[in-house]
Amino acid sequence: MKNVAVIGAGTMGNGIAHTFAQSGFKVQLIDISEASLKRGMDTIAKNLDRMVAKEKITEAEKSETLGNIETFTSIAEGVEYASLVVEAATENLDLKLKIFKELDEACPEDTILATNTSSISITQIGAATSRPEMVIGMHFMNPVPIMKLVEIIRGYNTSDDVTNTIMELSKTLGKVPTEVNDYPGFVANRILMPMLNEAIETLYNGVAGVTEIDTVMKLGMAHPMGPLQLADFIGLDVCLSILNVMYDGFKNPKYAPCPLLVNMVMAGKLGVKSGEGFYDYSESRKAEKVAKQFA
Ligand SMILES: NC(=O)c1ccc[n+]([C@@H]2O[C@H](COP(=O)([O-])OP(=O)(O)OC[C@H]3O[C@@H](n4cnc5c(N)ncnc54)[C@H](O)[C@@H]3O)[C@@H](O)[C@H]2O)c1
Repeated sequence: MKNVAVIGAGTMGNGIAHTFAQSGFKVQLIDISEASLKRGMDTIAKNLDRMVAKEKITEAEKSETLGNIETFTSIAEGVEYASLVVEAATENLDLKLKIFKELDEACPEDTILATNTSSISITQIGAATSRPEMVIGMHFMNPVPIMKLVEIIRGYNTSDDVTNTIMELSKTLGKVPTEVNDYPGFVANRILMPMLNEAIETLYNGVAGVTEIDTVMKLGMAHPMGPLQLADFIGLDVCLSILNVMYDGFKNPKYAPCPLLVNMVMAGKLGVKSGEGFYDYSESRKAEKVAKQFA
């Protein structure tokens, strides 16, 4: 495998492109937005600079990595020689189905099609193509160049061959791939999101304040970040959408999003990206200041 096309140059896409390029793959980074491509490439360069400063890579390795990435605004042009496509475009079912249909038509017939989706069914995405056995989930964690885990999700039709190829490939990136089956939330979010939702529910019920809940989980459970701060970092809209996918998928009330979460998203309080969630980020991304009295 030599050429890897990455669709979407946002938070995850640029990290995925960086990771493949640093491992010597030729990467075709594709986004509909020129501005996103530029921002993505700037982020990759900045992250590589940080690695050079920490003496994790040399200046020459940085240049080589950047030289391995080419940018495109057209899917058809970018995937022409791809052995693998990793799709990391905006999390939206209709958009992903449209992109996979287009990929299926534009890619060579032996190209493996992977998606970095956090919550959409791999089986459903595979069904939009004529090669469902070659469609697989490759769920990287944020920030991609640093986090070791890749959750490898087998759709109902994904073949053993494709799964083994992607497991082995992830190891060559220095990652630890973990194979799971395709059910709502996969494994990572199925376990993480109910914990975040329960922390919000605990706040909503007035059991304790924001700082208290996060302190209990940080110091009591040795979590590097409290659940409310983590929810702010992930984005409260993202948390709500993943919980809704699990709620709809399992028809089980235990996944019902807390009304406080729903209210905050409707009010535009989305966490770090909007400047306010459970904490106030107007002055700093470090969450020292609680946004308001929630009880
Ligand atoms: N952010 C996270 O922490 C995280 C973690 C794991 C997985 N994911 C998943 O990764 C994917 C991307 O998330 P993100 O946070 O990087 O989103 P993002 O909003 O930062 O980036 C999405 C990019 O996709 C581009 N895009 C939209 N439509 C496109 C199209 N038709 N063709 C090409 N590019 C297109 C946008 O211009 C944008 O640059 C989603 O499926 C998300 O669920 C996100």
